[in-house]
Formats: sequence, structure tokens, C-alpha cells
Amino acid sequence: EKGGYEHFMLKEIHEQPKAIRDTYRGRLLSDEAIIKMAGVEDNMKTFLNANRIIIIACGTSWHAGLVAEYIFEEFARIPVEVEYASEFRYRNPVINENDVVIAISQSGETADTLAAIKLAKSRGAFVFGVCNVVGSSIARETHAGAYTHAGPEIGVASTKAFTTQITVLTLIALRLARAKGTMSSSDFRLYLRELELIPQKVEQLLNVDDHVKDIARQYLLSPNCLYLGRGYNFPVALEGALKLKEISYIHAEGYPAAEMKHGPIALIDDRMPVIVIATSKGHYEKVVSNIQEIKSRKGKIIAVVTQGDTAVKEIADHVIEIPESEEAFSPLLTTIPLQLLSYHIAVMRNCNVDQPRNLAKSVTVE
Ligand code: F6R
Repeated sequence: EKGGYEHFMLKEIHEQPKAIRDTYRGRLLSDEAIIKMAGVEDNMKTFLNANRIIIIACGTSWHAGLVAEYIFEEFARIPVEVEYASEFRYRNPVINENDVVIAISQSGETADTLAAIKLAKSRGAFVFGVCNVVGSSIARETHAGAYTHAGPEIGVASTKAFTTQITVLTLIALRLARAKGTMSSSDFRLYLRELELIPQKVEQLLNVDDHVKDIARQYLLSPNCLYLGRGYNFPVALEGALKLKEISYIHAEGYPAAEMKHGPIALIDDRMPVIVIATSKGHYEKVVSNIQEIKSRKGKIIAVVTQGDTAVKEIADHVIEIPESEEAFSPLLTTIPLQLLSYHIAVMRNCNVDQPRNLAKSVTVE
């Protein structure tokens, strides 16, 4: 059942090329330069007339929502807010029939997300679901939706659900961008082709496994860890930190890299590993100077860089290379080594990676 892998989590990490491909299959038609998603097409007017999109979710799905915020705003120029379902539902939120809500949930059973959906519906909002489990409560409670086709996710730590959620949300953003005219048809074609290349890049990237394992060995006794990223990769930093804490029980925090100097930099010393995402097209110069700030305080740098990088290589203690891509799609790549790093550290610490203590796969109580 684990297909030769030691844990479901590792199996599911390795399933991502296929999961992403399955998720865009039949929807992304690059030859014809179209995106076909019935749930979006049938409600196109509602999407185009929306004042804003509010994304609600919990945990890793909330992180996918944050990535989507950057993508929707950049591609489709629609204002997006991303909310924790648990906060949204108890806040008496200002929401009405001009709002579109996108609810993201792997299980489709998360109690807070389900309650937030019911509240949004009662205020007249249109609610679109992005779920993995077919026929789940959230899939049934939403007005329309698009499934991720990740296949069953058994490991409690979410991996392929995250990357397929980003894939679905990217397809929606691209479709809306074309409909609104905020993206040229040539850019649209280019992005479709680029998105189609992601699975093979993930496949190639999975070869960093041994290298990541070596890095894991050197940090498995660290009590703390910081994750930094900017732009599209800020949410990836949050997700990297969540993955590490939930399965290895190492305290970890994710931050936008530029926020370092507003507090967290005080934590840096020679025992603090800092994982920095420094892709070549993503505010690269600024991230390099963030890395220098950490280095001058003797922090240990594990950098995720684009193949061919030279500047970060000179200062980082370790680099993990990812294939080049459009920056907007880079979270689909940068996430992979962070999943592997958490996995290996947790295994080396003898943690139960598939069923971490105190956690459940579906959180059906609030
Ligand atoms: C993290 C994790 C949780 C879930 C969260 C939402 O690895 O698994 O943070 O992401 O409980 O679950 P869904 O997506 O099922 O609503």
C-alpha cells in the first residue's frame, strides 16, 4: 500500500508530479490555449463581477490560499483576502452578495471551514470549493467547485494536496485573467506551457533527496528553525515551518524575509538554522542581503536557489537547487525540498511521520 516507500508521506511527496498532472489534465489545453473548468465557466459572471475574493481555509490549505492571493492579484487583478476559517466565522465579517468566497480543504470535512462556508452563504456570497475528497461535506455545501486530483492523502502532514491546490487555484487565476483581459494572449500561452512543464521539473527536483538527507543529518538536533521567503515564496516559508514542527516537533517559524529586522533577527546565533528561499526571479537581490544579515550574525543558512545561482552559493552553508521556472509557479518547486527536509529530520528523530502526536487528518471538531 505504501508502494515500496517507508512512509505514506514519502510516497505522497513522490507522487506530486503525477498528482499535479492529474489535476490539470483535461483542464489545461495548451495547444488550443484554453482552460476548461466547468465550475468557473458556469459562474463566470459572478467571478468577473466580484468586488473581491475571500479565501478561507485552515493549516496547509490556508498557505495554498496565501500563494493564490499573490497569483490572483498579479494575473487577474482581483483583490484577494485570505482568512483563517476559525477567525472569519466568529468575527461577524463584512460580506455580501458581491463577494466570492473560495474555500480550500483537502479533506472537505474541516469543521471551521464548513462553518465559515455556511456563514458566507447566509450573507449571500457565492462560495466555490477546492477540495480533494469527492463528495465530502464541503464539496456538497459549496455552490460550485473544482476538485484537486491528488488521490488519497494518508499521511497526516499535507504534501500533494498543497501542490495540487495551488495548481487548481493557478488555473482559475489564469482563466479569470484571460476573461478579464488582464493578461495578454501571448503571456497566457506562455504560462500554460510553463505550467505543463512543472511536473517534469518536480520529478527532476526529487533527485535532491540524498542531498537534503545529508543536510537533515546536520540539523536534526536543532531546537529551533527559521524559514524565510518573499513574495510568492513567503507562504512557502510558512508551510515549510509548519511541516517541520508538526512532524519533527522542532519549533519552527516562517517569516517574510524582510520582517527579520523587526524582531526575529534577535534570535540568530551560530546554532540557528535559517532556511531561505532565494529564487533568481523573486526579489533576488533583496533576499541576498537578508542572507548576508543572517550570516554576519553567524546563523546557518540553508538556501533554496535556482540552478546556476552563484551569489547565494558563496555565502550559504548549504544550497538546494531547483529548476528554473516562472516565479509565480516557483512555490510548486520550492515546497518540495522543504517537505523532504522535514520528512528526513522527523525520521532521524524517530518520530511517527505519518501520524504525528496530537494531530488528526480531518479536524471535524472546532
Ligand atoms: C498540515 C495539515 C493541516 C491541514 C488542516 C486543514 O500538514 O495537514 O494543517 O492542512 O487541518 O485540513 P483540510 O485541508 O482537510 O481542510
